[in-house]
Amino acid sequence: MRFRTATLALFVFLLVPGACVRKPAPAAAKTPAAAKTPVAPPPLRYEVRLGKVTFTHYCQTCHGESGAGDGFNAFNLDPHPRDLSDPEFQKKKSDAELADAIQRGGAGVGLSALMPPWGHTLSARQIDELVLYLRTLPTLRKPAS
Ligand code: HEC
Repeated sequence: MRFRTATLALFVFLLVPGACVRKPAPAAAKTPAAAKTPVAPPPLRYEVRLGKVTFTHYCQTCHGESGAGDGFNAFNLDPHPRDLSDPEFQKKKSDAELADAIQRGGAGVGLSALMPPWGHTLSARQIDELVLYLRTLPTLRKPAS
């Protein structure tokens, strides 16, 4: 009996440390496919997200979810709203010009009166947030396939 206990103790003594040794991590998994996976755009900063909420609520019906001018109400509008996500358009307009068009509406800045003025509905801060959000639209565009 003593002998068996001793053998068992030795057995445990030899086995347990062995079981605790960590197996080496498998060689860094190289998955070339992962490199091709499209990278999600970085999260929008807080003010931009506020702008997005305002845009979704007040502007999307005409300007469309991505600002492309394809909101469900756009077919009613002549002229149609232009593609606000077009980088060429964005380059031509300063932040102040965009804010002015939003605040005073199309009629206020020599565009179509079908673009309503928002200066009485939205605060200057909300309009600034909208401009910040509009500036992200080109980066949110779906890549041409
Ligand atoms: C009732 C439909 C409608 C709604 C709602 C609307 N827009 Fe417009 N918007 C237009 C139309 C139409 C034009 C194009 C006017 C033109 O080109 O003569 C326009 C033009 C603009 C322009 C100027 C583009 C340029 O050519 O300089 C900006 C900026 C803009 N809208 C932003 C907004 C924002 C931000 C909101 C929400 C607060 C909004 N719009 C809501 C219809 C709308």
